[in-house]
Amino acid sequence: MTDHKIPLAGVIGHPVGHSRSPKLHGHWLKTYGLDGHYVPMDVAPADLETVLRTLPKAGFVGTNVTVPHKEAALRIADHASDRATVIGAANTLVFREDGSIHADNTDGYGFMENLRAGAPDWNAKDGPAVVFGAGGAARAVLQALADAGVPEILLTNRTRTRADHLKEEFGQRITVVDWVQAGNVIENAELVVNTTSLGMQGQPELRVPLDGLQPGAVVTDLVYAPLKTNLLKTAEEAGCTVVDGLGMLLHQAVPGFERWFGVRPEVNDDLRAAVLA
Ligand code: ATR
Repeated sequence: MTDHKIPLAGVIGHPVGHSRSPKLHGHWLKTYGLDGHYVPMDVAPADLETVLRTLPKAGFVGTNVTVPHKEAALRIADHASDRATVIGAANTLVFREDGSIHADNTDGYGFMENLRAGAPDWNAKDGPAVVFGAGGAARAVLQALADAGVPEILLTNRTRTRADHLKEEFGQRITVVDWVQAGNVIENAELVVNTTSLGMQGQPELRVPLDGLQPGAVVTDLVYAPLKTNLLKTAEEAGCTVVDGLGMLLHQAVPGFERWFGVRPEVNDDLRAAVLA
């Protein structure tokens, strides 16, 4: 017998049954033949801190956190990466040897890696990006676009004040555009990103007029159920390069898996199929 410890990780949400992360990490653990487990954990908000302080004592090396815990996890953590601090939320926690909790946010990274993989000719510096939505997902996208050096970001949201607040936080490169004007600004866009929940199964459709889309522009949707949203269908018909949202989920998982299990995993078609199964 050895005292070799099998690393444990997982995802904490409330509810958590919808999360695809167990399938995703489970696929990688199997593919790379690693000892380790990744489990879903449904934790009520009032219990989050106690659970996070206990998990390292039970053999956990870290966890993902999802809705509604992303902001609270950042507050509870003992230290945080710059990108988690800028986004104001954590999605990946690493439990260090000394028992402390390190918070990171890999959503913006996942967004950018997915974009680079799906639209390799897109160049951040080439022109403006239009972003629909000003919620939590938009924060990660803005962090990634600002970091990548996009010269101008046209931000539009149904509730304008939320977009105004993001401009205050994320800076001068953002121009806030009224929601009713959203269709008018996309004709200048090199990149269009939907970060709202519109177009998702069970949600209303995105009703922004899309006839201004320019052939050659890149259009991406964070919604991945359905995989091909009406936004992406319309964009494809207009001659745009389209990038679906599933890849963001897959890519955001890479840094956590590598930290916890010691192998940098690959995002490929097998993984997509496993997660969609
Ligand atoms: P997430 O963390 O997924 O971004 P969120 O913070 O609840 O979730 O943000 C949801 C986004 O979808 C917001 O931009 C929201 O617009 P509001 O800020 O006006 O609420 C947008 N959204 C959701 N339902 C919408 C609808 N029916 N019409 C327009 N925008 C909608």
